[in-house]
Amino acid sequence: MKTETGLFTRKWTPGVVALRDISVDIPEFSFVSVLGPSGCGKTTLLRVAAGLIPPTSGAILIDDKPVTGPRVGSGMVFQYIGLMPWRTIEENVFFAREMQFHRPLTEAEKDKSRAFLKLVGLSGFEKSFPHQLSGGMQQRVGIARALAVEPDVLLMDEPFGALDAQTRLVLQDELLRICGEYRATVMFITHDIDEAIYLSDQVIVMSRRPGQIKFVVDVNLPKPRHEHDVRKSPEFLDLRSRLWDALRDELRETLA
Ligand SMILES: Nc1ncnc2c1ncn2[C@@H]1O[C@H](COP(=O)(O)OP(=O)(O)OP(=O)(O)O)[C@@H](O)[C@H]1O
Ligand SMILES: [Mg+2]
Repeated sequence: MKTETGLFTRKWTPGVVALRDISVDIPEFSFVSVLGPSGCGKTTLLRVAAGLIPPTSGAILIDDKPVTGPRVGSGMVFQYIGLMPWRTIEENVFFAREMQFHRPLTEAEKDKSRAFLKLVGLSGFEKSFPHQLSGGMQQRVGIARALAVEPDVLLMDEPFGALDAQTRLVLQDELLRICGEYRATVMFITHDIDEAIYLSDQVIVMSRRPGQIKFVVDVNLPKPRHEHDVRKSPEFLDLRSRLWDALRDELRETLA
């Protein structure tokens, strides 16, 4: 995934430029996290990548083809999960495919979608409604719903942002496991430096608005990571301090 001619800009209503001169190249099957202060344009970047909004100038290319609208092969996990409360968990997951096919699913297609609920550890909850699930379980439904379209590109906007610290650690391992079983190129937005390092092959730091790429670092920690104590390794601590150095001034200026 990359930006055409290296640059694109996203401008909203007069006076607010969300993104400027963004140029980034994401290798196939890599897991890339994006850190940046609140309001710097992370969600906007993801929505442009998903084809949900067009950039004011420039382009997003996936497999060398410009993204001109919602793309069949892109799955999105939203910052606010947005499950339909009147639909069961499995019906929420079916919905992604129904939108894609513009018709109800066959029994075989339903079974295929249910397999993604199993992949995220929610077997037995297919007939439950969203309010009967914990926040972490609902977030896993959001991941299953995104995977159900069998995406080659998975765009995740702070998927664990609203969860408690312990659930978040468990879901990070779950996500690494899922990404090990299901291969996709992942763009993951977070405010958590440790989470970004733990999950990623590469971490991007954005500047305050208008968001620009400020710092990019490769994460070469051993995999599978949950089997190593990577969070205590010198490499992890060095990455954390370099990322914090890059972020600190942007956060200070944003909050000033
Ligand atoms: N639909 C919209 N109309 C006008 N301005 C918008 C719209 N969506 C976002 N913006 C503006 O674009 C800028 C970037 O917003 P965005 O949601 O991308 O930030 P973010 O980095 O995801 O922030 P956060 O970390 O708080 O989620 C903000 O200044 C925001 O006010
Ligand atoms: Mg956001």
